[in-house]
Amino acid sequence: MRRKFNITIAGGGSTYTPGIILMLMEECERFPVGTIKLYDNLASRQEPIGKAMEILLRERHPEVKFSYTTDPEEAFTGIDFVFAHIRVGLYAMREKDEKIPLKYNVVGQETCGPGGIAYGMRSIGGVLEILDYMEKYSPNAWMLNYSNPAAIVAEATRRLRPNSKIINICDMPVALENIMANILNLESRKEMIVRYYGLNHFGWWTSITDKSGKDLMPELKAFVKEKGYAKETEDYQHRAQSWKDTYLMAKDVYALDPDTLPNTYLKYYLLQDEVVAHSNKEYTRANEVMDSREKEVFGTCREIIEKGSAEGCNFATGAHATFIVDLACALAFNTKERMLLIVPNNGAIVNFDEDAMVEIPCLVGSDGPEPLTMGRIPQFQKGLMEQQVAVEKLTVDAWIEHSYQKLWQAITLSKTVPGAKVAKQILDELIEANKDYWPELH
Ligand code: NAD
Ligand code: G6P
Ligand code: MN
Repeated sequence: MRRKFNITIAGGGSTYTPGIILMLMEECERFPVGTIKLYDNLASRQEPIGKAMEILLRERHPEVKFSYTTDPEEAFTGIDFVFAHIRVGLYAMREKDEKIPLKYNVVGQETCGPGGIAYGMRSIGGVLEILDYMEKYSPNAWMLNYSNPAAIVAEATRRLRPNSKIINICDMPVALENIMANILNLESRKEMIVRYYGLNHFGWWTSITDKSGKDLMPELKAFVKEKGYAKETEDYQHRAQSWKDTYLMAKDVYALDPDTLPNTYLKYYLLQDEVVAHSNKEYTRANEVMDSREKEVFGTCREIIEKGSAEGCNFATGAHATFIVDLACALAFNTKERMLLIVPNNGAIVNFDEDAMVEIPCLVGSDGPEPLTMGRIPQFQKGLMEQQVAVEKLTVDAWIEHSYQKLWQAITLSKTVPGAKVAKQILDELIEANKDYWPELH
């Protein structure tokens, strides 16, 4: 009999949990699963998802052992993989991350600018705690982490847990490559071979070919130049109007460097005035998500629990669900699949900080990711990346040293922020808002 894998989903109460479980079930031939456990530190948030998934799995996959718990020992014992997607502070704090900077006409975003820095200061401790539980109870397990802000979390784990089996990942390049494949009329993004470099939520494609080596960039560029990535696909997560606007805006980011294709997140650093001008200071993406994804997921769970059956109920699976299964397969079966991951640079980008966490293609096997060399990068990208990586490092310094000064420097250095005075005002409000979550700064 083939070996089956035991998985713990940390952040069991996440809106993405049902989608990931469904994806695991869809992929169970390729990646056989014996046990799925949910773990969360908030029982009330996790319970509806746990109860609904118990009913759904009992009906559709009774062979899978399923449970949910808030007890770390129970959650992390006897497992092969942790899939982690926690949000320390929940959407209530995301809303503050977005709204506080906007008050000062600065970008208000989940992972970019002061909002991302604030979220980073909350996430680091939560992710380290889960990693430590995993190492204590299942020392051979791998943690696939997509808890945001991935750039800051990755820098923190590089620095504080350098030998841990954690891989930090992001689904944005995957989602964009799905769109590119659609633009090109390809069956799958896996028909493309890409070269890409940058930081998380801060990168560029430099080459995209098909498997025979044919250059696909000219056709993609012609599209992106006119429409950005605004092409209808079945992507559930990014179908909201605000995401469509982001996809369209990629054309203005592209205009700045027509040699490459940009990640959509670069708009927050390069078109920050326009982004702020188009933001609604009273109703941000956190409000949109609370009014849509969160309501839908928990609503469906309640329906399942009330009926005692999941018949006819479904959950959307996002781009990252497949990506996680691909990564887990690569680690479990040594597939050497080529994937974009967040890894220590170590010379892969030749003229860039060796200690930076960069997002680049890697071949993934049972020993983990083997990064591919991306060579030298141009001055424009190098300058932007050096500034941004400094922001991320200063944030981690601030968390480790409990340093007000370093966090002020981090916010000031962010390209989204016009100056030190406004940075200090934003910081002081963020400290007040985050007093239950951040280390006390001095
Ligand atoms: P959510 O608020 O619905 O769920 C997060 C869950 O984490 C909650 O149930 C919460 O109680 C739990 N949690 C918080 N702190 C915890 C801790 N210390 N230990 C255990 N559980 C804890 O959030 P969501 O919108 O579903 O997103 C989940 C995470 O996934 C976020 O960090 C989001 O940014 C991230 N995400 C990342 C990517 C990527 O590209 N890397 C893609 C999608 C989502
Ligand atoms: C993309 C990014 C994630 C981010 C998500 C936000 O998928 O890669 O890192 O968490 O978008 O989506 P949301 O729908 O919550 O705004
Ligand atoms: Mn991401």
